[in-house]
Amino acid sequence: MIDILDKKIFKTVSEIADSEGSKAFVIGGYVRDYFLGRPSNDIDIVVEGSGIEIAEKVGQALGSKVSVFKNFGTAMLKYRNSEIEFVGARKESYRANSRKPIVENGTIEDDQKRRDFTINALAFSLNKDTYGCLSDPFGGIKDLQDGLIRTPLDPDTTYSDDPLRMIRAIRFATQLGFEIVPESLDSIKRNRERISILSMERITDELNKIMMSKTPSRGFVLLDETGLLHLMLPQLANLKGVETMEGRGHKDNFSHSLKVLDNVAEKSDDLWLRWAALLHDIGKPSTKKYEPGAGWTFHSHDYIGSKMIPQIFRHLKLPTNEKMKYVQKLVLLHLRPIALVQDEVTDSAIRRLLFDAGDDIDDLMTLCEADITSKNEKIVKKHKKNFALVREKLVSVEAKDRIRNFNPPVSGEIIMETFGIRPGKNVGIIKEAIKNAILDGKIPNEYEAAYRLMLETGEQIGLKPAGKESTGKAPTSEAEECTRSSC
Ligand code: CTP
Repeated sequence: MIDILDKKIFKTVSEIADSEGSKAFVIGGYVRDYFLGRPSNDIDIVVEGSGIEIAEKVGQALGSKVSVFKNFGTAMLKYRNSEIEFVGARKESYRANSRKPIVENGTIEDDQKRRDFTINALAFSLNKDTYGCLSDPFGGIKDLQDGLIRTPLDPDTTYSDDPLRMIRAIRFATQLGFEIVPESLDSIKRNRERISILSMERITDELNKIMMSKTPSRGFVLLDETGLLHLMLPQLANLKGVETMEGRGHKDNFSHSLKVLDNVAEKSDDLWLRWAALLHDIGKPSTKKYEPGAGWTFHSHDYIGSKMIPQIFRHLKLPTNEKMKYVQKLVLLHLRPIALVQDEVTDSAIRRLLFDAGDDIDDLMTLCEADITSKNEKIVKKHKKNFALVREKLVSVEAKDRIRNFNPPVSGEIIMETFGIRPGKNVGIIKEAIKNAILDGKIPNEYEAAYRLMLETGEQIGLKPAGKESTGKAPTSEAEECTRSSC
């Protein structure tokens, strides 16, 4: 007995299919993942007949609510922590002049034929007489053993049925560390333009799965090799290539970015940190210059790159919320820690970095360490040592000055109240002076010192404390005490 089939849900489908005289199978990812030893909760059931009818009866027997999608001929129910989708086995043929298939009822083999890959076309029978028998008409088990992605039919047919499958092929190859068979790879190259009919959401869903793989670079290399990358994300494809002037070349920024992505993937499962790694040098092509004597430069590529992020996110239909801002911030700041270690690591520079990065400082450090891809062991060793020093300093400066979530110790309200002024330029000048003095280490990050500096700065710009003469001492009423950052 296959252990995963020893479940109430499958037993129930079995009884109902038998009593209805239908053949039922569990198919697709659930079966594939069983053979790969990966547990899965997404169950796809195919029946020869009406998937909806069987689903409704199964739902009744289990006391689960069934959602029916009549247009697609599918039904879905949830049972315990599984999602079970039912569909009738289909036989499809495509009219050359239309994307709408002619769908007829078919046998299990008809259905398997029109699935994406042989490894996803495996099915276990659920009828009592044949319970647990494997149906594998296209050699899916062998392909699983050999690590191959292959379509059940001629790849041109399978890919034109649903062009998303071209990207799925690359996604599965990346997730599973499999190879795409050569005829399939050639077919993807030939049919790549067909992705234009897909919604960006579906494409990006696959891209994110590639991003979350153990070694995401594999997927991007394949996307590039097949020409899909240029269609999906031309800005990334533009990073490719090495130009040489006066015998001096620069590094290939595409393979560098992929290496940084893999390095980050070793350290973090955060999708957005991975996106930041992939896109950290996206501003390089448009800022590239050859300066005789100095060599290749990419001035402000951090700034230009961060400005490119919203357009990329909108195009990919990635969220344009705080996740996007996070990626922008990391792209903008990705040179800061490395610039810092090249000079002397002053407390003031550390405070400014902490202020700008805030809670994302650890992720920024992860990205910057991943950015060291030099093949020169000596350079790598030196940088790593310097980074360790920066990390140490970050901890000690933060413990002392609490800059990470900086809130000015004297608020705008106190400034306005003290000088009897309305919101405006002068409030900003005083706040900025206090912030800079703290970051530069001229005063501690404390209320008393900040209050004194507020009075001094106010005087310099011609402001006088409202009401009584100032004693130069900070008031300590309860209300005012609560505005202190240490409260
Ligand atoms: N399928 C297909 N063509 C597609 C999408 C899916 O033939 N474009 C079939 C495959 O048989 C696949 C099954 O539908 O196994 C379920 O698809 P899906 O849930 O998207 O993928 P899984 O294979 O379950 O893999 P994952 O959960 O990793 O997405």
